[in-house]
Amino acid sequence: MTLGDAVQALTLDVHLGPDDMAAALRSDARKGLTSSPKQLQPRWFYDEVGCSLFDRITCLDEYYLTRRERQILVNHADDIAVATGADTLVELGSGTSEKTRILLDAFSEAGALQRFVPFDIAEATLRSAAAAVASEYPGTSVHAVVGDFEHHVGLLPHEGLRVVAFLGSTIGNLVPAKRAKLLSEIAGNLDDGESLLLGCDLVKDTHRLVAAYNDAFGVTAAFNLNVLSVLNRELGAGFDPERFAHVACFDTENEWIEMRLRSLEAQTVPVVDLGIEVEFGEGEEMRTEVSTKFRREGVERELDEAGLELRHFWSDEGGDFGLFLAFR
Ligand SMILES: C[S@@+](CC[C@H](N)C(=O)[O-])C[C@H]1O[C@@H](n2cnc3c(N)ncnc32)[C@H](O)[C@@H]1O
Repeated sequence: MTLGDAVQALTLDVHLGPDDMAAALRSDARKGLTSSPKQLQPRWFYDEVGCSLFDRITCLDEYYLTRRERQILVNHADDIAVATGADTLVELGSGTSEKTRILLDAFSEAGALQRFVPFDIAEATLRSAAAAVASEYPGTSVHAVVGDFEHHVGLLPHEGLRVVAFLGSTIGNLVPAKRAKLLSEIAGNLDDGESLLLGCDLVKDTHRLVAAYNDAFGVTAAFNLNVLSVLNRELGAGFDPERFAHVACFDTENEWIEMRLRSLEAQTVPVVDLGIEVEFGEGEEMRTEVSTKFRREGVERELDEAGLELRHFWSDEGGDFGLFLAFR
């Protein structure tokens, strides 16, 4: 296959162009910075610096999630190809699609793979991952989609028999009501016989959970603080990242990790493009992410409530991570 063929096999839909993205950031930031307690949505972590910091996180000793999910995929990708019978692999929050290649290989070997549909909010990362997959899997068409899975799942292309993969426990970044909405939208977009492959981090020892979000090298801290640079660049804000500290703690009631940014002193931060000044008290914390930890029964119930039937559950030896395959 020539490069020209590979390029032809790659198409891109953009549901969230630069203007939409700027408007969405303005609206989220205004709401989050003026609410009490203050909060930011995790989708804004993923500029190019954030995406590459996240890649580094996935290689950290403390961040067992990626290794465990990869191990489950290696052990069961063939079972997934057979059980789904799919010829089209859709991936929500696809990032670099690194682990996804395990699935792409299994579907290719089963002779089924026709199409790959990576979907992400981070356009630059998506473009380069999609181009890489198109050249590594000649004969597979790649239909990349730039969008927000909280708004654009209804616009997923209906081509072939699809399995939608949502890996990395990214679903855990949504609070329960938003998860229920997203799962129902996914179920509503699927046709009978299509499926959802959902990767979820499981509840475990609190120390291991907290360490996974507060590594010794400070990579997660840099990832968390980077969102302030995004606000500075995109909204003319005046955050000094040195005047904030990374915080990760486990909320036992909600069974989720919270990442926060703690103001190290009382300070006033201008956000020029929003025409506001944001007051922080000394020690005040702003929530930047929740990362829910799941139990098998809870995920099964949420899938069921969304209209999806759980047919397979796989875990790693230590029971750290779960992969759920549910059908419409
Ligand atoms: C935790 S990373 C997981 C990446 C990869 N799936 C993995 O398992 O390693 C989350 C990914 O979802 C994307 N993302 C976050 N919020 C999103 C949203 N609201 N809509 C679409 N993509 C989003 C990020 O850009 C990033 O690539």
